[in-house]
Amino acid sequence: MAQPTEVTDFEVPGHVPPHMVRDWAFATAPGALEDPFSALSVLYDGPDIFWTPRVRFGAPAWVVTRHDLICEIAKDPATFSSTYQSGFSQLIGEDWDLIPLEKDPPDHDKYRTLMNPLFSPRQVARIEGSVRGTAERLVRTLAAQGQGDLMAGFARPFPVSVFLSLMGLPAELTPQFLGWEDGLLHGKTPEDRVDAAIAIKQYLTGVIAERRRMPTDDLVSFAVTSKVDGRPLDDEEIMGICYLLFVAGLDTVASTLGFVFKHLAEDQANQRLLRDEPALRPAAIEECLRAFSATTSHRLLTRDIDFHGAPMKAGDRVTVCWALSGLDDREFSDPRRIDFHRENIRHTTFAVGPHRCIGSHLARRELRIALDLVLEHMPNFRITPGERAVTHATGVFGVDYLPLTWG
Ligand code: HEM
Repeated sequence: MAQPTEVTDFEVPGHVPPHMVRDWAFATAPGALEDPFSALSVLYDGPDIFWTPRVRFGAPAWVVTRHDLICEIAKDPATFSSTYQSGFSQLIGEDWDLIPLEKDPPDHDKYRTLMNPLFSPRQVARIEGSVRGTAERLVRTLAAQGQGDLMAGFARPFPVSVFLSLMGLPAELTPQFLGWEDGLLHGKTPEDRVDAAIAIKQYLTGVIAERRRMPTDDLVSFAVTSKVDGRPLDDEEIMGICYLLFVAGLDTVASTLGFVFKHLAEDQANQRLLRDEPALRPAAIEECLRAFSATTSHRLLTRDIDFHGAPMKAGDRVTVCWALSGLDDREFSDPRRIDFHRENIRHTTFAVGPHRCIGSHLARRELRIALDLVLEHMPNFRITPGERAVTHATGVFGVDYLPLTWG
């Protein structure tokens, strides 16, 4: 194996050419606290592929900046594996996969076939009434205050409540789950993340045991009564499914809601357009999904490969930042402009390839319900004078604080 070369305060593996090294991290990029998506634009001025020492939890990875390269990686799971991409079970000294996210084909396909019907448009239509009811309660409570933090009052509790209802768990657990979610995904210290990971696992273990004794019609019951390869799922597989549903649907929806409403608060003309022309709302949601793509995926090289001039080695990590795909000016003209009449809105925010998001129909429904309700109950909302929104670019990009005033 080649010897590492010392560049500055980090080591570069011998197979990485020095001209492909760029010391860059999403979380600390200049401007990430005001607008993570603007902070990314500097990357398009550099090479399409580079290696950075601390992009992922402080660990090294290759980063690809262009839409077509990102799609190529996502569609080639034999070379770019999804194993170990979250690190959640390893965080607590265990070794089970999030299912189906961390499974590669052909194994992946059987879990996906099992789970696809759970989130089909028909299934989503079935739960729409309860999702809308939850959203309406939260929006009405917040709206009555005249001003407040949209994240704390609505965008964060809403997807948690939807998750609890899908899992057949009581809505009273919302604050508890919000705390665990915050610890796991945004914990200030490694201990915070570990404590939250253990707490979630312990809680889900209890629920799984309970549903094994007495199945109902919720998702946990579905998992405990399902079979793959003609045998029932084992405890680790059920945990992998339940745990993924917890982490997959919370931050993603909350973040997207945060960025959508931040944009509409800052751009009164676009807000008026959606009030005056409700028929534009589906296109507006797609345009916002394109421009505010909040998730980043990770892949692990299974073999040595020359990827468009980058000498990648088996065991290297690749960061797939979906926002870089949505903001690529070779794919979308004037990509930073939010244009609800844009013709090409075929974005990759829900991924492409075998892992494309299973919850996209549910997510789109949640976004639409939220958009309708906030526009209805919070007239002329804007950033509260003297305050400012706070965002982050660690893990899933998101909005921490969105102080709005309306009426
Ligand atoms: C705006 C909201 C959402 C966004 C932007 C989003 C984005 C994504 C992306 C990019 C992936 C692919 C990850 C990869 O290739 O490594 C994915 C997969 C997944 N998402 Fe979502 N997601 C959202 C909402 C949801 C919701 C609400 C659910 C739950 C019901 C969900 C469940 C999943 C699952 C289970 C997978 C794994 C699919 C597989 O590996 O085959 N997502 N999502």
